[in-house]
Amino acid sequence: MRRAIHSSTLPRYQHTQHNVYNISEAVPHTQRTFRELQELVDIRDVHQDIAQSLYSDNMNLNNAAYHLFQGGGKFFRPTTVLLMACACNTSHHASHNQTQIAVISEMIHVASLMHDDIIDEACQRRNAATVNNKWNDKVAVLGGDYVIAKATEKLAKIGCTETITILSRVIRDLIRGEILQLKNSMTHEELFDHYINKTFLKTASLLAHSCQAVTLLSDTPHLQHQAYEYGKNLGIAFQLVDDMLDFVSTDSSMGKPTGADLELGLATAPVLYAAQEHPELNALINRRFKQPGDSLRALEFVNDSAGIEKTRELAQRYCDKAVESLDEFSGSQWKEGLVGVTDVVLSRDS
Ligand code: FPP
Ligand code: MG
Repeated sequence: MRRAIHSSTLPRYQHTQHNVYNISEAVPHTQRTFRELQELVDIRDVHQDIAQSLYSDNMNLNNAAYHLFQGGGKFFRPTTVLLMACACNTSHHASHNQTQIAVISEMIHVASLMHDDIIDEACQRRNAATVNNKWNDKVAVLGGDYVIAKATEKLAKIGCTETITILSRVIRDLIRGEILQLKNSMTHEELFDHYINKTFLKTASLLAHSCQAVTLLSDTPHLQHQAYEYGKNLGIAFQLVDDMLDFVSTDSSMGKPTGADLELGLATAPVLYAAQEHPELNALINRRFKQPGDSLRALEFVNDSAGIEKTRELAQRYCDKAVESLDEFSGSQWKEGLVGVTDVVLSRDS
């Protein structure tokens, strides 16, 4: 049986002459903080709505379902979705239904994390115990199901079949992504495509489809494809940075154990790039770092490669594509906010 992920036993990423990545160098001086971007939208409405929607007369269900929302998540998804709503509405205000999409996006995200933490046997998230750790797996399954049920109820209340279709693709994709992650051996050429495809399904589909849905519900629905592309490219960049931070950040910054991906058998971008310089790494990737010492050797290969820097460069290219997708949006502080989100993604260290 796999070891539960409490904290990685691996030594941390080492800076050498081969890997020149430095988080602070990636921060442009003019950049707005994520908190400043959140002030452009009514993110408090989202907090309140989630707390009210999850209310149940069963205290145990209440506590379990609301537990991760209390853990101080960044609300990255609803903030981005509300910025998109304000950028595409001619009034530059998010409507009630668009705010509901922002709420639903966070609810789907958190429900999927509850289930993911069972699959990954994770003990810590958002600097607190996971639901499966604080209660048990059964409570975490049912808590996640409850959050999804409440999100579905909200979606139905919007009363737009096309929006329901768009957001139901997110749940389908989250499950497909998780199943894809179970796949084992493949050739080196297949590995990168598989990784980007999985990244879209697990992370970017939610942002892509939520941005599309709020644009469909705006008075500029013809921009929905561009909104989808923005969310897709931003989401892939977000996950690339997450995978990089798993090597270079700390447990307390991330609020969850870092160094976890190798221990879970996952080869993310830093490792796949390292394998281009050190082909011996491919055998370890294909056996999912299962043999004793595999994770440590893989980390050494990453240390002795440009894997981290190349991952950041790839994230930068996806952010550039996200910004290009906004070309047809009319100029506004909310459009600038969406550009600001790409800077935040590239420079975040938590
Ligand atoms: C985090 O991945 C997990 C996800 C982004 C999605 C997981 C999806 C499911 C478990 C399918 C069930 C979906 C629903 C809607 C109930 P990670 O383990 O790579 O990231 P982590 O380090 O944050 O855990
Ligand atoms: Mg996980």
